[in-house]
Amino acid sequence: MTWEETIQFIRTKPEYKALVELAYFEADLPLNLERFRNSEEYIETKKLILQYVPLTPSSNLLDIGSGNGISSAAFALDGVQVVSVEPDPSQTIGAGAIEKLKEHYQLSNLSIHQAFAEELKFPDNNFDIVYARQCMHHAYNLKQFLKECARVLKKGGLLITVRDHVVFNDADKKWFLENHPLQKFYGGENAFTSMEYKSAMVNVGLEIKQELKHFDSVINYFPLSKTEKENAEAKSKGFADSIVKKRLGAIGKIDIFRNLALKYVVNKLGKVHDENNVPGRMYTFLAIKK
Ligand SMILES: C[S@@+](CC[C@H](N)C(=O)[O-])C[C@H]1O[C@@H](n2cnc3c(N)ncnc32)[C@H](O)[C@@H]1O
Repeated sequence: MTWEETIQFIRTKPEYKALVELAYFEADLPLNLERFRNSEEYIETKKLILQYVPLTPSSNLLDIGSGNGISSAAFALDGVQVVSVEPDPSQTIGAGAIEKLKEHYQLSNLSIHQAFAEELKFPDNNFDIVYARQCMHHAYNLKQFLKECARVLKKGGLLITVRDHVVFNDADKKWFLENHPLQKFYGGENAFTSMEYKSAMVNVGLEIKQELKHFDSVINYFPLSKTEKENAEAKSKGFADSIVKKRLGAIGKIDIFRNLALKYVVNKLGKVHDENNVPGRMYTFLAIKK
């Protein structure tokens, strides 16, 4: 099956209803866009971008591998000049879908190009921001993908790649591919190690400013919310506290013993949120063109 056929197929299957909704794969494109625009992920992404570059009507942002256009249209609705690059012509999850959003919202500040990141046609030093959501891990040539991102960025411009699958080694990659819910249908998934992403960035003159691991940012761990994550962590800490209190009795009132025991129990219970337990965990990278 192609990627488009896969999405059309899972839309008809009740067991994929939650995935379709959470991955913004609904047939109703404006609904996907509105959900994405209001997501913790998108709000957090804009906060991160603003740490390095402004987001104003004169900012120009290249959105690579824009899929059905949720992020391109969201940035355009926020007033930024957006150029969307998507190789897939699909009306469902590709350039055709982005055209529909552009028309629906009358987005004169959004232009759409059907291309691969490795073969960009834009001039050098052209964009303030290059953004790629869940796309870099699909690169057919990671070095060339990043070389092009760096080439079209202005000096001082920001590359932000969000939600890219990270693996630790071949066995971990196999585990990820076996567990990906759609891989069995279309077979197009991929992932690299964090070092592969970072060295490819550094080699093309990008200075890495942040590497956000899976549980460092809601951008990566969505659909878990910040509150759900914090509540689970507090609950686990409370549980560890209660075990220590019960076992240590009066000695537990002495800080040094309590802290030692707490450390032991937390270690025994394991982390509530451990990226080692997430197949193909997702990372976000921010880098500046030197
Ligand atoms: C998982 S989808 C993400 C789509 C969208 N960014 C989103 O987050 O909803 C990956 C997208 O990257 C596109 N893609 C795959 N290889 C690419 C490449 N080499 N250059 C640019 N885009 C690519 C695919 O066509 C697909 O639309």
